[in-house]
Amino acid sequence: MAEGKKLGGAGLRGQVAGKTALSTVGVSGSGLTYRGYDVKDLAENCQFEEVAYLILKGKLPTQAELDAYKTKLKGLRGLPAELKTVLEQIPKDAHPMDVMRTGCSMLGNLEQEDTSTMGVFPNQEECVDRMLACFPSIICYWYRFSHDGVKIDENTDDDSIGAHFLHMLRGEKPNELHERVMNVSLILYAEHEFNASTFTARVCASTLSDIHSCITGAIGSLRGPLHGGANEAAMDMIEKFTDADHAEKEMMGMLERKEKIMGFGHAIYSESDPRNAIIKHWSEKLADDVGDTVLYPVSVRCEEVMWREKKLFCNADFFHASAYHFMGIPTKLFTPIFVMSRLTGWAGHVMEQRADNRIIRPSAEYTGEELRPVPPIAERG
Ligand code: COA
Repeated sequence: MAEGKKLGGAGLRGQVAGKTALSTVGVSGSGLTYRGYDVKDLAENCQFEEVAYLILKGKLPTQAELDAYKTKLKGLRGLPAELKTVLEQIPKDAHPMDVMRTGCSMLGNLEQEDTSTMGVFPNQEECVDRMLACFPSIICYWYRFSHDGVKIDENTDDDSIGAHFLHMLRGEKPNELHERVMNVSLILYAEHEFNASTFTARVCASTLSDIHSCITGAIGSLRGPLHGGANEAAMDMIEKFTDADHAEKEMMGMLERKEKIMGFGHAIYSESDPRNAIIKHWSEKLADDVGDTVLYPVSVRCEEVMWREKKLFCNADFFHASAYHFMGIPTKLFTPIFVMSRLTGWAGHVMEQRADNRIIRPSAEYTGEELRPVPPIAERG
């Protein structure tokens, strides 16, 4: 458990807010497990689609089940024409997370979840598979249309969701290394217990709302820089540093000014984030691949300085910044990739909440005025 962390108090820290069989954070194995499997094990041995299946359907698929699942998802990549029309209206300078939010919400209008019988959700898994298959299409369709004037063909034949995303974004099939890294990245981001966006999804689900509303709300929570937006903020920071010494000097100044440094620290983990070592390894491989001599050494120095000065460690987001950058992914699309992956965790939690539901309605400690009468309007100051 997260020893040394101050639990309780602000931000509901340390309080058990419900039950889940989906994941453990900071408790067993390397520190993160999905349905009893260590994330390290999953990242080494699985494809993202296997992990999505595990989270959504409760077990790892057999080869035949995986093949069928991937074929099914491939067939769901295309976007409805009405959704494309909406995406074409969204300006180039819109926040890509707002595009995801709108895309998800519009999809929910066009392909509504069946909520006709209260508390019964007969096509929830269909809705989730559809979102899993077409979220990459949503972000890439908007991005390529608004930035390059290109209407992409979102029906690629790529084997994996990660390759499909890179193919649509860059207009060519990715190499094996890039597909592998995308796969690992999507696995690392897939699920993380009662984080802010997942809790948002569960609160929404507890009202027996539809799944598109739950996911749309979760996207809104993930957008913030204290949550999913941290990988973009980390990139914005490290790309300003010209070399490792420059990074150290600037970081020391930021720490002196008590600035928050994005991509470091965690609400639950106290000594390390198990996802960091994994993505750091792949960031190093990508750095070698592109012949980088700046960004990776800068990132490593940032990590050293933060640990030496503050005992703060990189969370999952920090080395994702350089890894995505080495694959040519624009910084503003980093957090939408998180959505493409975390959708699985959100949906798993929504289905779990629905299966044993009570509306989530905590209480507040009142800090306002004592009871008082309403004064006549003429006497108010
Ligand atoms: N940079 C500088 N200082 C940091 C820090 C960071 N990234 N993260 C934590 N701290 C400081 C806090 O300000 C606090 O200092 P104080 O006691 O003087 O107020 C101390 O370390 C302990 O903070 P902690 O209680 O561990 O943080 P939290 O649980 O309230 O918040 C985060 C957790 C993740 C929101 C926080 O670490 C953060 O803002 N990190 C940057 C954003 C980020 O990377 N988010 C992605 C999370 S996966």
